[in-house]
Amino acid sequence: MAKCLICEGSYEPFISFGKQPIANGFLTPDRIKDEYFFEMIVGYCPSCEMVQLVDQPERERMFNENYAFFSGTSKLMAVHFQKFYEFLRENYMKSPDPFVVEMGSNDGIMLQNFAQAKIRHLGIEPSANVAKVAQEKGINTIVEFFDEAVAQKVVAKYGKADAFYCANVMCHIPYIHSVAAGIKTILGPKGVLAFEDPYLGDIVEKTSYDQVYDEHVFFFSVASVSNLFGRHGLEVIDAIPQETHGGSMRYILAHKGAYPVSDRVAKQREIEKKLGLDKQETYAQLRRNIEKSREELVALLKKIKAEGGRVVGYGATSKSTTILNYCGIGPDLIEFISDTTPIKQGKLSPGVHIPVLPYEKFVEKYPTYALLFAWNHRKEIMAKESAFLAAGGKWITYVPNVHIFDKPD
Ligand code: SAH
Ligand code: TMP
Ligand code: ZN
Repeated sequence: MAKCLICEGSYEPFISFGKQPIANGFLTPDRIKDEYFFEMIVGYCPSCEMVQLVDQPERERMFNENYAFFSGTSKLMAVHFQKFYEFLRENYMKSPDPFVVEMGSNDGIMLQNFAQAKIRHLGIEPSANVAKVAQEKGINTIVEFFDEAVAQKVVAKYGKADAFYCANVMCHIPYIHSVAAGIKTILGPKGVLAFEDPYLGDIVEKTSYDQVYDEHVFFFSVASVSNLFGRHGLEVIDAIPQETHGGSMRYILAHKGAYPVSDRVAKQREIEKKLGLDKQETYAQLRRNIEKSREELVALLKKIKAEGGRVVGYGATSKSTTILNYCGIGPDLIEFISDTTPIKQGKLSPGVHIPVLPYEKFVEKYPTYALLFAWNHRKEIMAKESAFLAAGGKWITYVPNVHIFDKPD
């Protein structure tokens, strides 16, 4: 039995992915002997409807001055964040001298929009290397883990905020009650909390189990987010589905009663009921789907290998760490992983130690198959890889099921 991080109720986990390394822990060969692993187990708490990781490595192991994920590597994400900025600005920043706070601002991909518009802003980002990129762009950023104590310091220095937002960060934080209490303190009377994270409904529908990795502690739904923040006097006033990261949800919250609640909230909860997100059986089925996906992917890669084909991974994503370690896929089946992020290049992938090489190596000698680990960026990647298809290359994906494709869509 495990204890729920939200309501402290006990629940029975529904799957273990076995020993997993730090998903973004790309390493040089001399570090292999010290590589850290933890048992990655996921469960659903029936009392508060939160799907969650049972154990997580200490935060400093994941978020530090060597953090390998730079938000700016995706151009489409930059466009997405510009639109998110416009959405906040148009709807929720009506006061004469607005102030906005971002948690997990990374390299400033979204906050740069506020900075350019000369809106008072603050980024709170514990990973010093990515924060430095933002600071060098003139974006006001402090290197800290956000929590209730930091919130009090922020209010003392800047006053209350019109908006507190984050993307792909809220679900990373096990001490979420401290974060929620901090947000409650920071928000002015009409202030809003806006955040986006991969959506549980999409994970269940697409068997996209690679969304589970050390950093992702929570897999949110409108139901679980309402339960969690309701405990802190915050209410979900809107829920807007997003295409990013393979299917996300944008939640808008405010002090209870401060705004009318959009019809979309009840509609989305209906969809969640139809998907069975409030039923244990849904997660038992998810587990069976995950196991099937693993069998099929391994069988396909072994078949290609037996036929003499070459497979290269495309995108050394944090998500790929779960796939590779759970399926036991190593350099025998995947020659290398191509990635555009300099800090990952020349290193080995966590746990299974497949070399990560610059994108140029992919273009230099196209493989027979490219395994699309960055499937959430499929549109952007298909747009730029027409030459690979034209040369006879084929793609492999495992979302929503294992298959080969040789057309952009
Ligand atoms: N918002 C960006 C980055 C997401 S990656 C985007 O969507 O692309 C998650 C980020 O959250 C990392 O940069 C990590 O350092 C940061 N983070 C983790 N815990 C945090 C905390 N307690 N407070 C603020 N940021 C945190
Ligand atoms: P993400 O799925 O966590 O956003 O990470 C995407 C990873 O994929 C990141 O390491 C950069 C890499 N990538 C490429 O190598 N080529 C691309 O065209 C894109 C969009 C991403
Ligand atoms: Zn619970």
